[in-house]
Amino acid sequence: MLTTQNETTSALDVAWVRSQFPSLSQTVNSHPETFLDGPGGTQVPQRVIDAISDYLRRDNANTGGAYTTSRHTDAMIAGARSAMADFLGCDPDEVVFGPNMTSLTYAISRSIGRELGAGDEIVLTHLDHDANISPWRALEERGVIIRMAEIHESDCTLDMDDLAGKITDRTKLVAAGHASNAVGTINDVAEIVRLAHQRGAMAYIDAVHYAPHGAIDVRALDCDFLVCSTYKFFGPHMGVLYGKRDHLKRLDPYKVRANTNAIPNRWEWGTLNHECIAGITACVDYLADLGRHVSSSASTRRAAVLAAFDGIRKHERGLMESLIRGLLAIPGLKLYGISDTKRFDHRCPTIAVRVEEHTPLELATRLGERGFFTWDGNYYALNLTERLDVEKDGGFLRIGLAHYNTAEEVERLLAALRKIVA
Ligand SMILES: Cc1ncc(COP(=O)(O)O)c(C=O)c1O
Repeated sequence: MLTTQNETTSALDVAWVRSQFPSLSQTVNSHPETFLDGPGGTQVPQRVIDAISDYLRRDNANTGGAYTTSRHTDAMIAGARSAMADFLGCDPDEVVFGPNMTSLTYAISRSIGRELGAGDEIVLTHLDHDANISPWRALEERGVIIRMAEIHESDCTLDMDDLAGKITDRTKLVAAGHASNAVGTINDVAEIVRLAHQRGAMAYIDAVHYAPHGAIDVRALDCDFLVCSTYKFFGPHMGVLYGKRDHLKRLDPYKVRANTNAIPNRWEWGTLNHECIAGITACVDYLADLGRHVSSSASTRRAAVLAAFDGIRKHERGLMESLIRGLLAIPGLKLYGISDTKRFDHRCPTIAVRVEEHTPLELATRLGERGFFTWDGNYYALNLTERLDVEKDGGFLRIGLAHYNTAEEVERLLAALRKIVA
């Protein structure tokens, strides 16, 4: 096994991690399946699968009924809200569940739009996923002006001077990503929030891509809203929104009359996906258990989640260094994003490349046949692929590492890629 067994990799008990995820032992065409598609959705531990099926087997009911399974469902949802509050560093009544991040963002943008009129401004970025762009662009029909913050093309980082200059006294909201799902850049979110608040604007943070890689603390960030999707961090296909309590109370949601007006439920419409909500608690508990493997002194679930991300960050950093070093040695390969090791604190292990004379689709297909699951195209980071002029040529090949990947998988991927492009 080609591992650099330094203290960073051994800090995370990778053998224990991998034993939790049943899908990791599958094969395709006699090759081990190697999941490098985490940015599109991660694998799930057995306990998440169990929680979903146990709920369906035992407690499958609607909420608010005067009988056991319905009461269990109410308690289960309250438990999942507490779990996500521990994950995000907020209170349970600030946690809203929804089908996915995109739907939740449209819900909030429509409601914020009710308060906006002609001449009000919203600042977005070229680095963002379209789910943090189109819901805000929809408000242009009300006369809202959209201003796009630029990027530095050389390393795909946000141009913070340009962003600061675009936030004015007319700006009502700044929407930005915590990390780019295409090129891995981690933004200085606390500074973005500070710049927005300085001009009296709200800050809406898309943490979908960041959530599997780093701890989130909404209080420390002081953001007004933050969204993530549990299927990107080892849970079921669901979206979660954090909103400051005052905003969740003050803003006016579009909802049916019978729906309660109490937070957070006034933002949750119709019957939710209860079985997946059951899986969310199991997902956060998995991370907490992982954290206790990293630091046995973690006394609360929140502390254990923070410890987990300490271990995850260090492990992923080691893998990312080997992967980027190996990629940069491949002739004709161009990497988009930060490639200087000294600045790796500012990127996730999500790596976008193009290789001369090979389309991203061809590379992803040939890697897929060999068991390496990567992605090609724009992954909805359309503003970025257009900005970098790669949209017309198939976007990027994206290799996304997660904490369940190993140094051995990285070496095998590099060997396969070298062979394909030789
Ligand atoms: C950075 C980012 N934001 C938003 C989304 C949209 O998330 P959802 O599928 O939960 O709507 C994605 C999905 O890939 C993403 O990567």
